[in-house]
Amino acid sequence: MKILVVCLGNICRSPLAQGILESKLSSQHFVDSAGTAAYHLGKKPDSRSVAVAKKYNIDISTQRARQFSEKDFIDFDLIFAMDTQNFQDILALAKNEEEKEKVKLILNEIPNNALKDVPDPYYGNEEDFELVFNLLDSTCNEISKNIK
Ligand code: 4NP
Repeated sequence: MKILVVCLGNICRSPLAQGILESKLSSQHFVDSAGTAAYHLGKKPDSRSVAVAKKYNIDISTQRARQFSEKDFIDFDLIFAMDTQNFQDILALAKNEEEKEKVKLILNEIPNNALKDVPDPYYGNEEDFELVFNLLDSTCNEISKNIK
């Protein structure tokens, strides 16, 4: 299975989602991340994301930001958006139903979850990054259960 996780900048949320999912899935699955925006192309993940991942023994420091492209609809089986805006921005690029069906809101994988969006921690503090890590860890547990 090829899985893409997508946020806005590809420096805070989706690099964490990528690292967490990789830690839960065997190497027969491929995980990548991207951003809907091009602000941070080629940049390392935000140092606060690197730090919270490291705290839980996950190294995301070698990741580099890239932008989502239409080719990703072909290259990936599943595309998980971090929030409703990312979800809509990705769907707007889809060319057909098959491409649209690949796109999901990542927190919808948690049964009966009321929260739809992984909050953007960019203007937040360490606690906000910790919250994002915990949300993503819960939803990635569900994703890995469903894929294995
Ligand atoms: P991300 O967070 O989408 O989780 O990577 C953001 C990173 C950068 C910006 C916004 C959100 N920005 O406005 O530059």
